[in-house]
Amino acid sequence: MSNKQDHAQWSSSFGFVLAAVGSAVGLGNIWKFPYMVGESGGAVFVITYLFCIALIGFPILVAEWLIGRRGQKNPINSFEDVAASEGKSRAWGIVGGAGILGGFIVLSFYSVIGGWALNYVTKIGSGSFVGQNSDAVAAVFDAMLASPGTLTIWHTVFMALTAIIVGVGVAGGIEKAAKVLMPLLGVILLVILGYNILNGGFGQAVSYLFTPDMSKMNSGVLLAALGHAFFTLSLGMGIMVAYGSYMGREFNLLKTARTVIILDTVFALAAGLAIFPIIFVNGLDPAAGPGLIFVSLPIAFGSMTGGTLIGTLFFLLITFAALTSSISLLEPSVEFLEERTSLNRTMSTIVASVVIWLLGVAALLSFNLWSEFTIMGNGVFDLLDKLTSKFMLPLTGLAAIIFVGWVLAQDSIKAELGMSDGAWKAWQIVAKFIAPIGVVIVFISSLIGAA
Ligand code: TRP
Repeated sequence: MSNKQDHAQWSSSFGFVLAAVGSAVGLGNIWKFPYMVGESGGAVFVITYLFCIALIGFPILVAEWLIGRRGQKNPINSFEDVAASEGKSRAWGIVGGAGILGGFIVLSFYSVIGGWALNYVTKIGSGSFVGQNSDAVAAVFDAMLASPGTLTIWHTVFMALTAIIVGVGVAGGIEKAAKVLMPLLGVILLVILGYNILNGGFGQAVSYLFTPDMSKMNSGVLLAALGHAFFTLSLGMGIMVAYGSYMGREFNLLKTARTVIILDTVFALAAGLAIFPIIFVNGLDPAAGPGLIFVSLPIAFGSMTGGTLIGTLFFLLITFAALTSSISLLEPSVEFLEERTSLNRTMSTIVASVVIWLLGVAALLSFNLWSEFTIMGNGVFDLLDKLTSKFMLPLTGLAAIIFVGWVLAQDSIKAELGMSDGAWKAWQIVAKFIAPIGVVIVFISSLIGAA
């Protein structure tokens, strides 16, 4: 993937789709989506999120790939060169820079959660949850959160794994492994779905996820759904720009984007259907926040036949899905240091990882020692999450779509996307108006709502 001496290209469209799906499908789908749904009133969030994915995420994904494919460089240089080639300001490179910084911040707290998943591999594997009721399972989670040492150890392990994969440059091999392991994750989700259908709560979960109660709609839900659409598709961080730079001309951007988006959404919805029935049957709180999957799934694994094996495998696979995302979060920072400083790849990886790790430690302390320390009502963990998901990702994504929809010459884009006249009109309406205006409206409404 990152052989930039000769700027390698993806050998096949399949390899590319795999890497893009690997980046997109991760903790965002399995961990974050369900708890965001729970915190944001259920189906109103789901429906808004689906609209955001289709009308905003889709065109921005295409726009980011297009910029990367034209630029053939890291995100900053791609923006700069593509702008310059059309006589526009090189200052567009700032957008790429903002993306790199964002990836850096996302990874700090992402690694903490990756550590939780790893810790749960060992907990479930050792049979800790067999026959336990929901209170006991929740107590295990709370004890983990209360222990800075435990959180730091697992965060360190996860960050080290990410750094090793990126530093040694074996990401390509990881993506090949994803070909087998991602479908396996899908299979386990289906097993949990089956368990849920037998054990009740399934109908309730379906209506919770898909029957919106419009009275719960507000600007906070809008912004959360928009932010999550960016997060789950790995948008607004230059990552898809970087991936696009390895993409050959023969790729059909629209079809590839559709495939990535459908797979990503299927994983998120399946995770929702795996988790909410357990929540309802056990009388748990859907709005419990980031601990949601860690206090619901172990209950099911503790009571199903073969649950120890299935549960261990499940958390291993989530960790794996998280790693294929975290390497995509680390790569841009490493690439940046390598190209813009005198550090070599190994040193760039170490420097970036250590700083990200430190920020992650600050994030994990907000669950225990620093729980009293808040900035505008948020602990460090929440602050890093909100700053990126709700501000940095949407704003850089907005810049990317304005760049492609308004700044670049449109004729060549039409040719590049290979669109018929009708499809091109639809694209223009979405890219020029719906997506950018959508982002702006959500922002303004949340500013008004927050005031
Ligand atoms: N999309 C990944 C997930 O859902 C996380 C991720 C990877 C990401 N790369 C990103 C989020 C870039 C924002 C930006 O787990």
